[in-house]
Amino acid sequence: MEFSTQSTSAYHQIRTAALAVGVFADGELSAPADVINRASEGALKAVIGKDFDASLGEVLVLRALKGVRAERVMLVGLGKQASYSAKAFARAQSAFAKQCVSLKLSQAASSLALVACPESDAQQLARLSAQTVVNATYHYDQTLGKPDPKLRPKLKAYTLLCERGVAKQTQAGLDEGGAIGQGMALTRTLGNLPANICTPTYLGNQARALGRQFKSIKVSVLEKKQIEALGMGSFLSVAKGSSEAPRFIVMHYKGKASAKAKSEGPIVLVGKGITFDTGGISIKPAAAMDEMKFDMCGAASVFGTMLAIAQLQWPGELVGLIPACENMPSSNANKPGDVVKSMSGQTIEILNTDAEGRLILCDALTYAERYKPAAVIDIATLTGACVVALGSVNTGLFSPDDALAESLLMAGKKALDPAWRLPVEDDYQEQLKSNFADMANIGGPKAGAVTGACFLARFAKAYRWAHLDIAGTSWLSGAQKGASGRPVPLLVQYLLQQSQAPAPR
Ligand code: BES
Ligand code: MN
Ligand code: ZN
Repeated sequence: MEFSTQSTSAYHQIRTAALAVGVFADGELSAPADVINRASEGALKAVIGKDFDASLGEVLVLRALKGVRAERVMLVGLGKQASYSAKAFARAQSAFAKQCVSLKLSQAASSLALVACPESDAQQLARLSAQTVVNATYHYDQTLGKPDPKLRPKLKAYTLLCERGVAKQTQAGLDEGGAIGQGMALTRTLGNLPANICTPTYLGNQARALGRQFKSIKVSVLEKKQIEALGMGSFLSVAKGSSEAPRFIVMHYKGKASAKAKSEGPIVLVGKGITFDTGGISIKPAAAMDEMKFDMCGAASVFGTMLAIAQLQWPGELVGLIPACENMPSSNANKPGDVVKSMSGQTIEILNTDAEGRLILCDALTYAERYKPAAVIDIATLTGACVVALGSVNTGLFSPDDALAESLLMAGKKALDPAWRLPVEDDYQEQLKSNFADMANIGGPKAGAVTGACFLARFAKAYRWAHLDIAGTSWLSGAQKGASGRPVPLLVQYLLQQSQAPAPR
């Protein structure tokens, strides 16, 4: 996708296939709407409040207006002026982009960022626009028998109108949003691919491909023997239930200024890469089990974030770690009551083989210590309990570090990819007590999302750490079934924030 900016007040002169013009459900016409209205001798006023009431996200297509060069003017409802926000802006942009895609347009321009939006600067609005537009062009057809090229979105070029004084920030925001959108698309595709294609081996190859695409990313993909040599007994105990070979994937990105940042250490992302979660011997019920192909969405979000960051030539240093395997029932599988030894030396009694995510993540968290990281963030579809607690609106955020938690919450808010903080307190640790090992892998029915985080906390003591439980936010169910690309926007926003000002300790 080509993103560009344009600054003019002669809105009726803009040549484009579709020009978005924002309209509030109440109040005056915005400057672009006023100009178009006058040039077209009142064509806008003639429909507003009649065919079009400007509710948020409503779109009305007006073709070939007299006195207007754009082939189409699309009125886009912004809702009530008093409740206008970045979120409303993004919804309006998204509705416009979707309309352009469904009309198979290849090019479009939007004046929506010219409408003043509280608490948002030009760069943020541009970032959200580009992200929204790329998302609107996402199309999954990888596993259709005969993918229809005619159904592929045609939108290739997008112009965001802006004030002359902020053209630079606007272009920077568009580039950021475009990269975030592409990262989300990769995350969505990896999530959507079925588990018989998207295996641990496939993910390893995907990492190598990313390493070939960007010189700034060095990749190593460890196989079973090497994982054994590292002593990752907990990870391997999950992997051994499947005939599909495990992989431990390391992606190491170094930006231009990373030498300077060296004293700080890299930021490490750890993504849960269970390519299919049957539950193992503690097997899951059949209903909706297909959705457990999404159990590698944490890993997929690490790929998406890496792609975005490399594309933006982010100045810092970023490491992505992905333990990848299947969780299957078999004669080689973990059994309830089995005790395994993690890379950290701590032993774990596996009371439920379906709490496998923490069993693979704990070894990756120990591996992360070697980087002396500035911070480690793990991303995992860890618990059904988190879906019960927060639904699919907020990602669960857990961290004993207030400053780190605050920066991640802020990033989520800014990127419209919100998270909500839940506790990781030692008082919950006693739920993980075991009579036969240093800890159990489950903490009973109470506070399941919290005890999952508390388990991980035992392996994350050597550095600043946060855990994102994306079980509710990384994919949609029902008619809209598919990976969402979250929390790539939150993660990229967080990283971009870091290059401006490091988080206070
Ligand atoms: N991948 C699941 C978590 C999950 C379940 C995500 C449903 C999204 C929807 C995870 O491996 C799991 O099975 N967790 C168990 C933990 C329990 C056994 C302590 C769960 O949530 O039931
Ligand atoms: Mn499970
Ligand atoms: Zn799982």
